[in-house]
Amino acid sequence: MKIHDPATRLCQLLVGCALAAHFFFASAQAPLELARKNACLACHGLVHKQVGPGFAQIAERYRGDAEAAERLAGKIRNGSVGTWGRVIMPRQTQVSEADARALSQWILSQPAAR
Ligand code: HEC
Repeated sequence: MKIHDPATRLCQLLVGCALAAHFFFASAQAPLELARKNACLACHGLVHKQVGPGFAQIAERYRGDAEAAERLAGKIRNGSVGTWGRVIMPRQTQVSEADARALSQWILSQPAAR
């Protein structure tokens, strides 16, 4: 049996690409799913202010701040008030530390608002 005929190769290549694309998009979407699941988006817009600041605004504010990811992960779990205004962000203790870190890194990676 000839295994390495061009058709088989092409097929393997396509399956490989499809799998790679799947993993890429799956991992790129995971934090958005976390944000949905934890109702972050009930108060935060991806870009603009709603109840709380838009995620793009947060990214803009802390761009170049190397400690922001760690600090914001803590604030996600402990809540926040007074940084953006007088509205309180309640503590989100249902979010695990690992998820809070993933969320804060993802928020800080949001592209600048236009
Ligand atoms: C009930 C509304 C509400 C919910 C739900 C909420 N937030 Fe907030 N969030 C706010 C408000 C209001 C602020 C501004 C607080 C302040 O001024 O200190 C804020 C601020 C933040 C900040 C910036 C803190 C800072 O120091 O600059 C981050 C990051 C954040 N929220 C992430 C999240 C994530 C992630 C979730 C979901 C797990 C979430 N928030 C859920 C209302 C909310």
